[in-house]
Amino acid sequence: MSDAERAAVGAAVRQLLGDSLGYLYPAALRVAVRTKIADHLADGPLPPDRLAVLAGAEPDHLRRVLRFLATRGVFREDEDGAFHLTTAASLLRADSPLPMSSVVQLLTDELYWLPAGRLEDTVRKGTTAFADIFGAPLFDYLAGDEERGALFHTALDDLSATEHGGIVASYDFADAKTVVDVGGGRGGLLHEALSRNEHLRGVLLDDKSVVAEHRLDDPAIAGRWELVGGDFFTDMPAGADVYVLKRILHDWDDANAVRLLRGCRDAMAGGGRVLVVDTVVPPGNEPHTSKVSDLAMMIVFDGKERTEDELAGLFAQAGLRLNRVVTTPGTLSIVEAVAA
Ligand SMILES: C[S@@+](CC[C@H](N)C(=O)[O-])C[C@H]1O[C@@H](n2cnc3c(N)ncnc32)[C@H](O)[C@@H]1O
Repeated sequence: MSDAERAAVGAAVRQLLGDSLGYLYPAALRVAVRTKIADHLADGPLPPDRLAVLAGAEPDHLRRVLRFLATRGVFREDEDGAFHLTTAASLLRADSPLPMSSVVQLLTDELYWLPAGRLEDTVRKGTTAFADIFGAPLFDYLAGDEERGALFHTALDDLSATEHGGIVASYDFADAKTVVDVGGGRGGLLHEALSRNEHLRGVLLDDKSVVAEHRLDDPAIAGRWELVGGDFFTDMPAGADVYVLKRILHDWDDANAVRLLRGCRDAMAGGGRVLVVDTVVPPGNEPHTSKVSDLAMMIVFDGKERTEDELAGLFAQAGLRLNRVVTTPGTLSIVEAVAA
């Protein structure tokens, strides 16, 4: 073996070792969030023994977890052993304008963690183990578990808050009159679209327990929105020009995705559009958020992230045609479909 080959094998061994223990990173991140370390550091750096008192933790164990997180830029340890906030750690503060702690809590919760442990099973059978573990598909389960339901929708709301501005700024709603946000959660995206487009009216469609928690009570958009609490497979409001499906299609397998798109196609006004807002999987071997998000969809939903060609195929089955793909500043793209 040449020196270069030996070095390449050594690097590969280290990579495999690190990757095999990679599950400890989300575990550590979860500890930091659950013990509110970022909030405790809001007034300045603290040594581990002080932090441990505030966090209700054992100082040396906490220090080692934070030292590990500092290798990823979440917290920073100084020469005196005190820990500091970083940009990433600041997003974990409760008072962050873009709070990410709910997102971390959700994605490291047993809701995702346990199905991840069943990935082999999922791959062998070709279906999620979620209902096996929790007794019902994800959305049915969430409707019956108040605490986890609230965590899920708060996390989606918080994550969406980091995306809405870029999405609405990237798409021209000038010639649209009414937009339906299909599975729009608590309405953050719709709020942004109506705020930036004074001529626009909107409908928020989601489960009735979710729309009951809507965030649309704002004088700036008063009188221009309505709520529909129902099932988006059967209760699609008719006659709008734009149907937005943001982080929706990727929750479903192809058959249900086509069903949903067909529902939009049948409901939309002449000249209407369907906007699928999801991360689009690029070709090639490069890392891309869509490729890990795809596995998250696989383990909890039987969903998937799709390539542009795969989306075009679903549109065709639903009587639609992919018109164009609009990128946004974040990781999501707006994939616009019109009647075929
Ligand atoms: C992944 S979340 C996306 C929420 C929102 N569009 C966003 O991007 O933040 C999926 C949403 O679909 C809703 N949903 C799932 N099944 C539904 C159904 N059959 N009818 C109506 N809404 C549904 C959920 O309640 C949830 O709000």
